[in-house]
Amino acid sequence: MTVLKITRMGSEILKNRAQEVTNFDKTELNKLFEDMTETMIDSGGIGLAAPQVNLPLRIVIFFVPDSRNNGTEIPLTKMINPIIRPKSESMDEDWESCLSVPGLAGIVPRWRNITYSYQDLDGALKERDASGYHARVVQHECDHLDGILYPMRMVDLSTLSFIDATPNNNDGN
Ligand code: NI
Repeated sequence: MTVLKITRMGSEILKNRAQEVTNFDKTELNKLFEDMTETMIDSGGIGLAAPQVNLPLRIVIFFVPDSRNNGTEIPLTKMINPIIRPKSESMDEDWESCLSVPGLAGIVPRWRNITYSYQDLDGALKERDASGYHARVVQHECDHLDGILYPMRMVDLSTLSFIDATPNNNDGN
């Protein structure tokens, strides 16, 4: 496994729409998912999207620690071509940070309840419901596939902060 270099805000690849995966080469996908997982763990993040390792593909990994999901961990999830649908108009605001925007955090509104679907490594379609922080992480990661970084979702830029200057302890996505 290889720790990959993480692209940072300003990189062209983070501004563009990533392409759908059409070739389900299991060996290649497995290698990419292993390297992305290693990279995410190495950087202390809880999610990573392929454009963050310089690949313009609609691929995301994430997990949710039990401490952020009412005591139930969402294990490492590997998503190909994910799609999100909000289940209601309700939004929540909470802190976010991003491995591609190191050192900073800000308050971002997100859909409270979503359904998301994706393909697994075999191309099989999966669907899940999510709410709260789980829903937030999925929305944050999938935004990376459409050239959107969390500061572009912020409505109050006065909350944009250096993490070490705030009392909040943020996970990186
Ligand atoms: Ni991010």
